[in-house]
Amino acid sequence: MRIEDHPILGRAERGRRITLTVDGNPVVAFEGEPIAAALLAGGHRVFRYTAKRREPRGLFCALGRCTDCVMTVDGQPNVRTCVTPARDGMIVQTQVGRGKWGGRGGGGKRKG
Ligand code: FES
Repeated sequence: MRIEDHPILGRAERGRRITLTVDGNPVVAFEGEPIAAALLAGGHRVFRYTAKRREPRGLFCALGRCTDCVMTVDGQPNVRTCVTPARDGMIVQTQVGRGKWGGRGGGGKRKG
């Protein structure tokens, strides 16, 4: 679900229709909208799993402050999807723990 016509802000202007790949599946987005907005519109609720207890997290503050929405985007972990604009062809992955450069993995403990 997307807000089409806000009572205070008015009609939403949208970029062109694009496609993201989220955990291997296509998700429709509009260029420039936050990645998290496209995910919510597509029914995604879990964006990451916590490092210690592997608990699910999703959108919380939607302001770029809490980090509950971080995901691995184009191989870069810890991207705040609520404030990162969508671009065509982005590869987005659910993050596990602290994430890992280049992929989905990530552990709860650091070595060394
Ligand atoms: S939801 Fe809090 S930083 Fe994105």
